[in-house]
Amino acid sequence: MSYFDSLIREVADFPKPGVVFRDVTPLLADAGGFARCIDALAEPWQGSEVQAVCGIESRGFIFGAALAQKLHAGFVPLRKPGKLPPPLVEVAYQLEYGSDRLQARNDALRPGERTLIVDDVLATGGTLAAAQELVLKLGAELVGASVLIELEALQGRSRWPGATPLHALLRY
Ligand code: PRP
Ligand code: HPA
Repeated sequence: MSYFDSLIREVADFPKPGVVFRDVTPLLADAGGFARCIDALAEPWQGSEVQAVCGIESRGFIFGAALAQKLHAGFVPLRKPGKLPPPLVEVAYQLEYGSDRLQARNDALRPGERTLIVDDVLATGGTLAAAQELVLKLGAELVGASVLIELEALQGRSRWPGATPLHALLRY
């Protein structure tokens, strides 16, 4: 068990029966744990000249904004529909039941800007794949992605382009 595992709470049958939910709020509430987590998320990208960090709403904002500070990069929120004013760029993606969309301001990233995507959890991979599409639509250069937790059984990594680095701090 790693140092971080002890700060992730396992909740059975949430949000529905049979699902084991990984709750990151104890980690966020632990000053030392949160700081060490951001250090560990930043470590693979030191020297990669990341210019922008895109965080995915909503828990991706927490980790993404802190990581942007650590990497001396700007922060760009990728948001769910109805939150950002136009003009926007958007990508639709499938959920287990139904679909959703991710949006960004149409000039949120500069052409070729070296961009990292950040989220808390990689599950089926639909959200991260949509974020990747959105970053490319904006004309930026995708450096890679970091997630705190990868739920390996859901095989979300298979939806991520293999040639682009995807780092997970914890795998369950
Ligand atoms: C969760 C999580 C990821 C996404 C992963 O977000 O924070 O963004 O699901 O799932 P996927 O890999 O199957 O696409 P959620 O929609 O629950 O939003 P929240 O962060 O606002 O709680
Ligand atoms: N924890 C947090 N968010 C999630 C999870 C989880 O286990 N699965 C899908 N999104």
